[in-house]
Amino acid sequence: MTTSVTHVPDGTAYAVPAARLRFRSLSRSFGSHAVLQDIDLVVEPGELVAILGASGSGKSTLLRIAGGLDVASGGDVLIDDDPIRGIDPRIAIGFQEPRLLPWRSVAQNIALGLPRGLPRAERDARIDGLLGLIGLTDFAHHRPRQISGGMAQRTSLARALARRPGVLLLDEPFGALDALTRLRMQDLLLSVLAEAPTTTLLVTHDVDEAVQLADRIIVLGADDDAPGAGIQQLLTVPGDRPRDRGSAELAEMRARLLGALGIDRHAH
Ligand SMILES: Nc1ncnc2c1ncn2[C@@H]1O[C@H](COP(=O)(O)OP(=O)(O)OP(=O)(O)O)[C@@H](O)[C@H]1O
Ligand SMILES: [Mg+2]
Repeated sequence: MTTSVTHVPDGTAYAVPAARLRFRSLSRSFGSHAVLQDIDLVVEPGELVAILGASGSGKSTLLRIAGGLDVASGGDVLIDDDPIRGIDPRIAIGFQEPRLLPWRSVAQNIALGLPRGLPRAERDARIDGLLGLIGLTDFAHHRPRQISGGMAQRTSLARALARRPGVLLLDEPFGALDALTRLRMQDLLLSVLAEAPTTTLLVTHDVDEAVQLADRIIVLGADDDAPGAGIQQLLTVPGDRPRDRGSAELAEMRARLLGALGIDRHAH
């Protein structure tokens, strides 16, 4: 199921399809510094792909290019077979910090993500729906300084989803949260995506998080024969979500990913 059906006030329903995101021979250099080299990847509609890689391996650069915040040196990014040029309304980005406007309420911050020109009733209905989705209905009128870090990050997620993007790009969205809030946010993200299917690219440093959330995981890294980072590993995570954190199959995948990241817990 890759479409969510939304009822507008006049009673008609329309489908918002999750989009297919494709990186085609994508490269990025800064001067003589090759960061990304020949990235080829198709993220299927409604799929969640996690991106792992050492610090500096180009994860944020890849996301920023997809989000139109940076430009490729070679190759391109396509959304539903259509090359993107700059910031595209079908794509939304969320960052490690929630980036909320402090003088606006939770509801008003979410509203910033809505398309312009919506009829008032539709606008209010969408904000109410999003507040419900992230469990902040009772905090609609609070300012960012009156809510917790996890709540702020939920607000930021709702703002990103407000436009009903086909693609959601998340750059370490839970990286600044404490461990327990982080686990709650992971569950919340899965339930939000089940309600509003959206193709998602999730950058994370956390191997457990990748294994818990992703359909597939890529590891970015450099090879000896290529200057920039390429896709070093592409793994499909077994089993349906929510996944049993204790399963042996996932433990094996975690060990493999840590190995690919150069962290070998059994090194002699
Ligand atoms: N605008 C820029 N100008 C010059 N170099 C840049 C620029 N943006 C990124 N880089 C370089 O590209 C490389 C990859 O950076 P990027 O931020 O994508 O890494 P990352 O994988 O997201 O790292 P981290 O895990 O620390 O967030 C780094 O060496 C960085 O210095
Ligand atoms: Mg980064």
